[in-house]
Amino acid sequence: MLVLGIESTCDETAVAIVKDGKEVLSNIIASQIKDHQPWSGVVPEIASRLHLKKIIPLTEEACKTAGVELKDVDLIASSNRPGLIGGLIIGTAVAKSYAWMLDKPFIGINHMEGHLYSSHITCDIEFPYVGLLVSGGHTMIIIVKSHTEYEVIGTTIDDALGEALDKVAKHYNIGYPGGPAIEKAALDGDKDKFHFPISNLYKSDRQYDVSYSGIKTAAINHLEKYLVNPGDTYTVNDIAASFQHKAFDMLFRKVKKASIDYKIPRIVVGGGVSANQYLRQMFATLTDTQVYFPSLKYATDNAAMIAAYAYHKFQETGADGLDTGVYPRVTGFKISLVQ
Ligand code: KG4
Ligand code: ZN
Repeated sequence: MLVLGIESTCDETAVAIVKDGKEVLSNIIASQIKDHQPWSGVVPEIASRLHLKKIIPLTEEACKTAGVELKDVDLIASSNRPGLIGGLIIGTAVAKSYAWMLDKPFIGINHMEGHLYSSHITCDIEFPYVGLLVSGGHTMIIIVKSHTEYEVIGTTIDDALGEALDKVAKHYNIGYPGGPAIEKAALDGDKDKFHFPISNLYKSDRQYDVSYSGIKTAAINHLEKYLVNPGDTYTVNDIAASFQHKAFDMLFRKVKKASIDYKIPRIVVGGGVSANQYLRQMFATLTDTQVYFPSLKYATDNAAMIAAYAYHKFQETGADGLDTGVYPRVTGFKISLVQ
């Protein structure tokens, strides 16, 4: 089955064609990073205008690269939640228009389900597993029972991990997007220079939750207070290394705890932050647990994960109507991603 996937939830316009949920025939991405760089953050109106400009040419390019014609596609999918409203409307309107025009089924995909699926493109992964999703807008620990059945057991109670990395990088003018900029700066820094505080949410219904607002405030507003040796000199690289280490370690401990508590020795990580090598090394220390990270080209936003996941979703739920809407926020992330 050939699936055309469209992704436009944030600052990447992407179109892919994937066969049977595994074989990526094309995966075209137009990044808007340079266009948002002057503002050190995504400007929604600029994002929408660029999606509008790129989405049709990119679809044509995806078909050409895959060596297929639009009429040969069996299913058309778009990320219709969560994300920036302009991008969601554009991607989903285009996907539904193609579906209507070509008389093909349409399916709306949860962008985060796509991220969770991204490691499945290249690896055969056994269920159940502990999923960790870390992106610019979400931080979730999930018990995954099948492609469409899972329970979110932990989330951030404030900032997402990617958002915290972006904000600290912006404050210290390290670069944009913040995650990769901090990763690079940290390579020349001392992770033990600052002991930033980590959240310790321990109540029984909160034991897998994390919080990034405290550590972010510490790194931005109370930096000197957390120097291990007061009065010591430091560089921005030391701030990056210490912040990255503590921010990841906090989550690493929670995921490890979930894996032990639920007796599931498999962990699957997804979302833009999963591109980070330091995070990958941290999880690689878990020798008695199988850990899966997506291939780098499927870690940050892309449409291959949307088209690949749509294949499985379609087998279980069938098509969505053309009256399906778009949803900037997804409620119920605390309970279940299934809708
Ligand atoms: O999944 P994604 O591409 O878009 C969203 O769905 O939000 O994730 C974007 C986030 C941003 O916060 C970005 O700084 C972060 O992922 N990111 C990284 C890396 N690459 C992207 N964070 C840490 N290390 C990286 N190499
Ligand atoms: Zn994403």
